[in-house]
Amino acid sequence: MKSPVFQRKGIPFFYDKSEIEFQKDIYERYDNMVIKHSALHLADELWGNYHLQSVLDFAVAHYKTQTLSNVLDIGCGVGRWIASLAQANPMANCWGIDYSYQMLKRAHEFWVEGNDIFIDVSNKGFSNTMNLAGYQMSNLNFGLAKAVDLPFADGSQDLVLNCFLLDRLDDPSKCMIEMKRVLKPNGTLILVTPLNFNKSMHWNDWYPPIKIHQFLIKIGLNILDWKEDMVIEEPLDVRGNFVRWNCVAIAAKKIG
Ligand SMILES: C[S@@+](CC[C@H](N)C(=O)[O-])C[C@H]1O[C@@H](n2cnc3c(N)ncnc32)[C@H](O)[C@@H]1O
Repeated sequence: MKSPVFQRKGIPFFYDKSEIEFQKDIYERYDNMVIKHSALHLADELWGNYHLQSVLDFAVAHYKTQTLSNVLDIGCGVGRWIASLAQANPMANCWGIDYSYQMLKRAHEFWVEGNDIFIDVSNKGFSNTMNLAGYQMSNLNFGLAKAVDLPFADGSQDLVLNCFLLDRLDDPSKCMIEMKRVLKPNGTLILVTPLNFNKSMHWNDWYPPIKIHQFLIKIGLNILDWKEDMVIEEPLDVRGNFVRWNCVAIAAKKIG
C-alpha cells in the first residue's frame, strides 16, 4: 500500500487536494452533505428503514460464504457499507476511500474513534433529534484518494464495493480499470449506480447499461449477477417525499 502524503485528524491523505479542489467539491459542504448523509445512512429510525438495504441484500449473497482479508469501498461517504463489512469480518482489513475529507472525518469519528454524533433534521420536518453512539472498529480505516488512483497494490483486494459513485466521476472507465487492478484474481466487484450522468459524453459512452457490461468483460471481469431494475427510494423528509433512483446493480469476478 502507498504511504499517505500527510494526515489530517486521523485521516490519511493519499492525494494532496488543493484549496480550489476543496472549494469546488460539493461533498465538502458539511451542512448539505455530511448532515444529509449522516441522517440517511446512520439514522434508520428516522425513516423506518435503510434506503440502501436492497444494495446490501444484493451484495451480501456474493461474499457471505467467503473468507475476506482485504475489503475496499470506493466513494464510501459516511462509511455505512464498509463498516457493516468490518463488523461482519473482524479479521478483515477494511478501507473506505473517498475524495471528501468532510465525509471521511464523519466516518472516522463515528466508526473508528467511537464518538457519538447528534442528528438534527428539523429542517426536514422531524421534531425528534437523535444522539447516535459511535463504534470503535479496529479493522476499519478511512483515507482520502481519488477513485482513479487508489493507494493499494495490484491484486490486493478480495472485495471492492462502490455505490452511487460511477456516474459522479469524470472518467468512469479509468475507475473501473483501477478497481479491477486492485482486485485479487477471483476477487469480487460489486457496483451499484443509477447512471444519473450529467454530461452528454457519458450518456453516449455508458448508456444503455449493456455498454458497462461489455466494458467490464473487455477489461477482464466475469459478470456473476446483473440487475437493471433495482429501485432505490431516497427519503427526503418527514412527509414521505422521496427521490426514486433506477439503479443497475452488478456483481463481477476478476478472471483468475
Ligand atoms: C452520492 S455519494 C455516495 C456515498 C455512498 N457510497 C452511498 O452509497 O450513499 C458519492 C460519494 O463519492 C465520493 N466521490 C466523488 N468523487 C469521487 C472520486 N473521484 N473518488 C473517490 N470518491 C469520490 C463523494 O465524496 C461522495 O462521498
